[in-house]
Amino acid sequence: MSSTKTILAIDQGTTSTRSIVFDRDARPLATARAEFAQHYPGQGWVEHDAEEIWRDVLSTARDALEQGGGVESVAAIGITNQRETIVVWDRATGTPVHRAIVWQDRRTAPLCARMRQEGCEDLVRARTGLLLDPYFSASKLAWILDNVPGARRDAEAGRLAFGTIDSFLLWRLTGGRVHATDVTNASRTLLFDIHRQCWDDDLLRLFNIPASLLPEVRGNSEIYGETDPALLGRAIPVAGMAGDQQAALVGQACFTPGMAKATYGTGCFVLLNTGEAPVTSANRMLTTIGYRIGGRTTYALEGAIFVAGAAIKWLRDGLHLITHASQTDDMATRIPHSHGVYMVPGFVGLGAPHWDPEARGLICGLTLDATAAHIARAALESVAYQTYDLMEAMAQDGGGLVTTLRVDGGMAANDWFCQFLADILQAGVERPTHLETTATGAAFLAGLACGVWTDLDDVAARWSRGRVFEASMEEAQRRTMLEGWRQALRRTLTPKV
Ligand code: G3P
Repeated sequence: MSSTKTILAIDQGTTSTRSIVFDRDARPLATARAEFAQHYPGQGWVEHDAEEIWRDVLSTARDALEQGGGVESVAAIGITNQRETIVVWDRATGTPVHRAIVWQDRRTAPLCARMRQEGCEDLVRARTGLLLDPYFSASKLAWILDNVPGARRDAEAGRLAFGTIDSFLLWRLTGGRVHATDVTNASRTLLFDIHRQCWDDDLLRLFNIPASLLPEVRGNSEIYGETDPALLGRAIPVAGMAGDQQAALVGQACFTPGMAKATYGTGCFVLLNTGEAPVTSANRMLTTIGYRIGGRTTYALEGAIFVAGAAIKWLRDGLHLITHASQTDDMATRIPHSHGVYMVPGFVGLGAPHWDPEARGLICGLTLDATAAHIARAALESVAYQTYDLMEAMAQDGGGLVTTLRVDGGMAANDWFCQFLADILQAGVERPTHLETTATGAAFLAGLACGVWTDLDDVAARWSRGRVFEASMEEAQRRTMLEGWRQALRRTLTPKV
């Protein structure tokens, strides 16, 4: 293979779609990005227009290729995506039968609660490593089948296809020839047995899902198919696919058990590599597939926080306190302390370790001298506190004390946040040179499959450390701050009946 070969990574996230061309040193050569509309058609409902996503994927991919050496130099495409979000489409026309239902959507909370009461959670947990929460795909798929006129009939007749976003994009990119997903995305559906690594008939029965809807499940680094030449100028192999958090695990080169990364995008997701054996959490963490490369599976423990960057976006778009996310760095630095102001960003319920879909956001501790800066700082702090809760739970699960956390995503660019995170965690926080590690991970997976990189050591050698933040806060202060957070949390959680 020529040394000028590049990889195109498509990172289809919750609020934006990015296409990035990487060179063989994993340096980004060109990036194109498009933000797309969020639809909130009901309280706690979140939808995306899959056609808009598809248009953005095509236009950003074309732009990135044009600026990044042209379509001739690209060796392969890697896809990574917001996980759990689902699309159901017509196999004959490729048209979605409903808007995509997004991972943040809570409409199926009553169904999940009912199933929990009926005692289904143990089976779900044992097979999938997940919990019965509306966050995951299965209840959303059941909702579409039960609420879109004719959908169940068409599904039973084999006329419809289901997929997470990776699967939908692969279908479209290959001109409708390939209906497949990868193990990491499959492992977030609530329908996939992560031990046997196949769709599970008992779970399909439980959610009343016809098997004919499902994509084939493949590893993370292999050739899935070739793009329709009419789309990007020539046929390009799609050679890597993974859910975005797992792609970030790969992009952060967390290949050894005990290594962990936290990605601060819309939400925050901490993944701890636990090696070749799945670890079951006693603290409501998720057991998930980290990656499967060359037939070998690595598992991870995962803590999922639903709102991280979304809290900063809310400061900008909801409260109009800021015009750009980066302002929060200055605002937090300007004030000496948080003044007892806490935010619990339960805008879409709370994820791990609470799993409280009915919880809602809260700001407390306000006095008349509280300013916009205090609220901005409370938003940043809340994300660090939530990360602390996850790390604690993982340590109790036998994950060991993580002494260094690799961070990435938009909020990781914020120095004040990274320092506060190191202080609260009492651990080193390592930031790589390039923060787009999700896309980097997708590129690594594709590049491994087509020989741009030889093995995981070769990939790990491309990871480049940017800055390390070391803990420096006094222990007494840290304890006081954490106690304030716990009190705020208690006010937010729904009382258990
Ligand atoms: O599980 C949801 C997650 O994949 C979304 O990631 O980066 O869009 O916040 P992000």
